[in-house]
Amino acid sequence: MPLIIAARDRLARSRPYRAPIRVGAAGGLGAPAAIAAAFALGAAYVVTGSVNQAAVESGLSPLARAMLASAEMADVAMAPSADMFEMGVKVQVLKKGSLFAARAHRLYDLYKTFDSLEAIPAEMRARLEIDIFRRPLSDVWEATRRWLSERDAAALARAERDAKLRMALTFRWYVGLSSRWPIEGKEDRKSDFHIWCRPAMGAFNDWVAGSFLQAAEARSVGQIALNPRARPSGPERSNCAAPASTCRRTSSPSRRVGSR
Ligand SMILES: Cc1cc2nc3c(=O)[nH]c(=O)nc-3n(C[C@H](O)[C@H](O)[C@H](O)COP(=O)(O)O)c2cc1C
Repeated sequence: MPLIIAARDRLARSRPYRAPIRVGAAGGLGAPAAIAAAFALGAAYVVTGSVNQAAVESGLSPLARAMLASAEMADVAMAPSADMFEMGVKVQVLKKGSLFAARAHRLYDLYKTFDSLEAIPAEMRARLEIDIFRRPLSDVWEATRRWLSERDAAALARAERDAKLRMALTFRWYVGLSSRWPIEGKEDRKSDFHIWCRPAMGAFNDWVAGSFLQAAEARSVGQIALNPRARPSGPERSNCAAPASTCRRTSSPSRRVGSR
């Protein structure tokens, strides 16, 4: 932050900007202390990432939001990214309650080890079909082929020629689709839920433990944004009744996040 702010100051002195340039902070902001630290470093505003997903407005199913609401700081893991799978790019995902990270790693390891689906020993293929895909790999490729034929004929032509690419696209069926299952709340795929999540989620959960915001259904974006700069315990909290919309603990605009 100090380096970016110093660069901003240098630029602002050398160029005739009409409005001041504001520098915000994001990443790892889940609790009041982290947000206070960001403001102390000179941030003009803050942006939360992971905690927004636990909000009722996020689009995630209640089932997935309940999983997020119970996560602790260490309940995250790195996993292969869906759109940059072949490049080995990793993203942070929720580990608690889901085997997605371990399963996606297994697929990536197989992708690195073998040149085609056909080269994978039969026993290993059978395990993949039972544990991860729940259908024959040939069916997964067929579904992928159909999907590509409607959207990306050039990629399909490449895949028809390149067995390793066919393997990557087949594995991406799981790594990609698994992020839809927590949105749909697909119960029978709960153990494969693929939810991007960083430790800020655990920090938030720890901070709201024992308060009205502990309940996943009370976490509207408004409540999340209004409350991070207040202490979670104390008389205000115990007076707070169920309807989330009425539970504003920091009503003074001057105390709202990003108001300075
Ligand atoms: C649901 C979700 C989707 C995200 N999508 C992207 C993305 O497409 N590209 C990207 O660079 N970062 C993405 N991020 C990472 C965020 O930009 C941000 O770096 C991260 O959430 C850090 O904030 P946090 O520690 O408060 O979670 C995403 C994060 C979440 C939770």
